[in-house]
Amino acid sequence: MRLPEGVSICEVGTRDGFQIEPEFIPTELKIEVVDRLSDAGLPVIEVTSFVHPKVVPQMRDAEAVMAGIRRRPGTVYSALVPNEKGAVRALDAGADELRTVISASESHNLANVNMTVEESLAKLAAVAEVAARAGVPVVAGISTSFGCPFEGAVPLERIEWLCGRLAALGVRGIGLADTTGMANPAQVARSFVALRPRWPGLGWALHTHDTRAMAIPNILAAMEAGVTYFDGSIGGLGGCPFAPGASGNVCTEDLVHCLHAMGVETGIDLDRLVTTARRVQEIVGRTLPGQIIKAGKWDRRYPVPDAVAARREATR
Ligand code: COA
Ligand code: ZN
Repeated sequence: MRLPEGVSICEVGTRDGFQIEPEFIPTELKIEVVDRLSDAGLPVIEVTSFVHPKVVPQMRDAEAVMAGIRRRPGTVYSALVPNEKGAVRALDAGADELRTVISASESHNLANVNMTVEESLAKLAAVAEVAARAGVPVVAGISTSFGCPFEGAVPLERIEWLCGRLAALGVRGIGLADTTGMANPAQVARSFVALRPRWPGLGWALHTHDTRAMAIPNILAAMEAGVTYFDGSIGGLGGCPFAPGASGNVCTEDLVHCLHAMGVETGIDLDRLVTTARRVQEIVGRTLPGQIIKAGKWDRRYPVPDAVAARREATR
């Protein structure tokens, strides 16, 4: 395999993960999770979203969460915004980076942000302007990049067109998001191979959901196509409330475990990450999809059963 030396992981669990949790998670617990993720060495954390509090009630404490977290030097504390109002709120709250949301498909964009794609693009132009004035970078996410739960297949030409429009706004990077786990590895590779050379100045990222158990294969395919930036969610939390059939993101600690096992660096302390995942499991009160919290790391060893030990001794 053609593997990079290292990759960057952005943790989206306290945003993409918590946003779909039905019970309100107290603000101090959200802050605790962000601080634990910082301590585990996550280089970028999508802390929260500045969206309409009635639309996503779980994110109604976005300002308080941003104000309460401990800022670890060097960590980028990012926030998701759909429009100028969200951008102004996020900048006032001290976000280091804005991540915008728009869908490739009209139906999902309407369901998610109540706008046509053109209307969203106009709002994102305003986001880019206020961010530029504040000197804060913008990264654009494209939901339903590999398929839409309402419309089905999304042609690559559509993504290409949208990337062009977003690049023209001066965004620093683009993240293709597989909102409901419809992407397959060949498709992911094909997409990045086609897009990256067209806008070589942009940072390219992949945001996956493991809805159909293809998240890590998709990430490996993207890596082979030169992508070195991935989103993940602690414990495998996550899902878009406005996409039917949505489920958790790729589990961050499972992904980091896989990368470390292959010798790809992340700068993340996996043990601390696993401890954080266990804590998140306590907070949400149910077993999370992550495998490493259950199985332990690949080099876990078990005691040799007495009968086996005796046989081995006898055959020595
Ligand atoms: N934060 C808080 N309030 C906001 C807001 C924001 N980012 N954007 C708009 N509003 C308020 C407006 O001030 C207005 O308030 P008023 O009625 O008191 O005047 C009201 O919302 C309606 O504004 P409008 O622009 O018509 O918004 P809308 O009702 O069409 O909703 C979004 C549009 C984008 C704000 C809403 O659909 C949303 O927050 N979606 C986010 C979905 C999401 O987070 N999905 C998961 C992540 S992928
Ligand atoms: Zn997502």
